[in-house]
Amino acid sequence: MRDFNEHTATAAVIERMAGCPDPRLREIMASVVTHLHAVVREVEPSLDEWMAAIRFLTATGQISDDKRQEFILLSDTLGVSMLVDAINHRKPSGATESTVLGPFHVAGAPRREMGDTISLDGKGEPAWVSGRVVDEDGKPVAGAFLDVWQTSSEGAYDVQDPSQPPMNLRGLFMTGADGHFFFRTVKPKHYSVPTDGPVGRMLTALGRHAMRPAHIHFIVGAPGFEPVTTHIFVAGDEFLDSDAVFGVKDSLVEPFVLKDEPAVAKSLGLGNPFYVVEHEFRLVRSPSRR
Ligand code: BEZ
Ligand code: FE
Repeated sequence: MRDFNEHTATAAVIERMAGCPDPRLREIMASVVTHLHAVVREVEPSLDEWMAAIRFLTATGQISDDKRQEFILLSDTLGVSMLVDAINHRKPSGATESTVLGPFHVAGAPRREMGDTISLDGKGEPAWVSGRVVDEDGKPVAGAFLDVWQTSSEGAYDVQDPSQPPMNLRGLFMTGADGHFFFRTVKPKHYSVPTDGPVGRMLTALGRHAMRPAHIHFIVGAPGFEPVTTHIFVAGDEFLDSDAVFGVKDSLVEPFVLKDEPAVAKSLGLGNPFYVVEHEFRLVRSPSRR
């Protein structure tokens, strides 16, 4: 190949990969090269624009470490994470839909009993979260785990906010025979994804905000079932239609209903007034168990 030009470029690079022993890698890289070249042909970047793109990707790598993953945030904010999620979690209708994991999950959340609180500092508007874990036929799933985490009422995770005790607003629950779960917490608040890096600058340059609507994160699973990574979103949140990471699904939006019932609040161990929210998680059996 001695005539690498606008017209021959794509075929030349793909041909150079013919000896790749891994057919899947060859397929993926041929597609990446084809689409990258197509972008370049379509937008015809100036050398300055191309260097700006290189600087952006360099900064995205440089700010990333074992705690901060700016490439995942880039994938999230460009809708790639949710697209990959959708392709990998095609589910029968009625099954709980998945959404982004996000960067704030911490392995090893403290084990809690049903009815316990996950709010260690008690700050915020009290909330009672309950529901059931069921199978595709609506039968309760016993021994299901629910790994839960959320922001404070100020819109920050414990790992972002030194004023919160470690493991605040996190917990691991296990269902009994009836598949029920219930716990105490505070109403979560909408918050911004990290904006102090290149992705934040990209969102500003694109005229986009960085907000996520208020939600509680869950990973729910049980032996013999596919685990699902999902959220419960707070109905009425002003950012439900413009989530910075495209994670909202109608089936995951639930009303947080305000109750002013002092006697009930007392019996549940909550302050009054308090919010109640209910949700049913419907799990799909693992392929080998269907
Ligand atoms: C989150 O929900 O915690 C989150 C998800 C994606 C990017 C940033 C934060
Ligand atoms: Fe979140």
